[in-house]
Amino acid sequence: MERFVVRPSGPLSGQAEVYGAKNSVLKLMTATLLSTGHHRLRNVPAITDVTIVRELLGAMGVSSSYEGSGTAGLLDIDVPASVLPVAPYALVEKIRASVVVMGPLLARYGSARMSLPGGDDFGGRPIDMHLRAFEEMGAVFTTEHGYVEGRCDRLVGGRVVFEFPSHTATDNVMMAATLAKGTTVIENAAREPEVIDLAAMLTEMGAHIEGAGTSRIEIEGVDQLGPADHAAIADRVEAATFLGAVGLAGGEIELLNARADHMEMLIEKLGAIGVHCVDTGRGILAAGRRPLRSVDVSTLPYPGVATDYKPVLVSLLTVAEGVAIVSENIFAGRFRYVEELKRMGADIVTKGHHAVVRGVPRLSGAPVRSTDIRAGAALVLAGLVADGVTQVSGAEHVDRGYEDLAGRLSSLGADVSRESDCE
Ligand code: EPU
Repeated sequence: MERFVVRPSGPLSGQAEVYGAKNSVLKLMTATLLSTGHHRLRNVPAITDVTIVRELLGAMGVSSSYEGSGTAGLLDIDVPASVLPVAPYALVEKIRASVVVMGPLLARYGSARMSLPGGDDFGGRPIDMHLRAFEEMGAVFTTEHGYVEGRCDRLVGGRVVFEFPSHTATDNVMMAATLAKGTTVIENAAREPEVIDLAAMLTEMGAHIEGAGTSRIEIEGVDQLGPADHAAIADRVEAATFLGAVGLAGGEIELLNARADHMEMLIEKLGAIGVHCVDTGRGILAAGRRPLRSVDVSTLPYPGVATDYKPVLVSLLTVAEGVAIVSENIFAGRFRYVEELKRMGADIVTKGHHAVVRGVPRLSGAPVRSTDIRAGAALVLAGLVADGVTQVSGAEHVDRGYEDLAGRLSSLGADVSRESDCE
């Protein structure tokens, strides 16, 4: 077990590269199940979630190898003609996103058996929208002993209407539809840039997809796809984390590869708070200006302010002038880390899915615990403006989604290091 050790820092300066998007790469990895052969994914970061999905693919008989790191991270995946279409409990329990094996498995092998995902650190993670869509496409499900099992002959295209634009359900159905018979239309589809990235890779593999990035995606099924060679887009949540760091610690940094066009609403919010961002064409140049000012935040599906940005924004608001109301509209339980920020002197009151954040001049370093990837990163950021030492335990949660967060923040001048819990 490891922890981050953070001391007051700033101003930051220099350049940092933003690596490949976790929430794209994980889906690109399972999409390889749609075709036999040798696939190559580029810009794959060295994060634990990639390792877990490799294990998941490995359990099915798919071999993979990884070399490099960061933007040079290369993942080679070899998919054999037949796989064992089972996602076991031990791995699904580690990563709820494993549900995105279901679409490719049903489409290509007509069978998928998956341990039912349980709750998460920020609430329940149901998969009803995924299952309903696959049923509409002809799959039949049974549930027994904690596993859901789907079977079908060839999936049949149809009209799938989501009651909510679920990100992974859109990915899952889009993947399944590439090999279905006929045309599938997804209405109220998620519009995240990672959905566009997945559609781009599927198209390179031979799929016929139109409308990815809009609320209506149309997929015309084909009989067969070929292997992929695809580079993932940059991680907008990682970029947001660095933008939060410069907002808190002050200074000016350039985030190479960051896509301002994927983060418009966030950049507007950050500007109002006091983090000024300029699109440089090769990334984002960002400067933190004092004093930070409070603004209200309400999370929404893309292109709204993503729920994944919220912990970073709350860290900024804890030391901003004024009072902000933060509303969480995606995952009702995603306020747990607030209790940790309060231990650092933050003035936050939560009620249901709302939080009232009253800015204080400075936080106070304390031992705190990371509960999930984004919460852990936000606590590290809070430590940059906390007197004394902040120790964030549970660094392994952060490693799930960030490669070497401490090292990369340090290279910009932040006082952040890692220690083993035994030290
Ligand atoms: N939902 C259902 N039924 C479903 C699917 C979703 O009720 O069948 C609900 C969820 O409970 C939630 C809402 O719909 O209330 C939105 O969930 P969505 O399906 O959009 O989220 P997700 O696809 O499971 C992805 C990211 C999350 C990110 C959310 C929201 C991946 C692997 N995960 O989750 O990322 O917070 O979209 O943008 O893509 C993270 O990176 O730390 C992370 C949690």
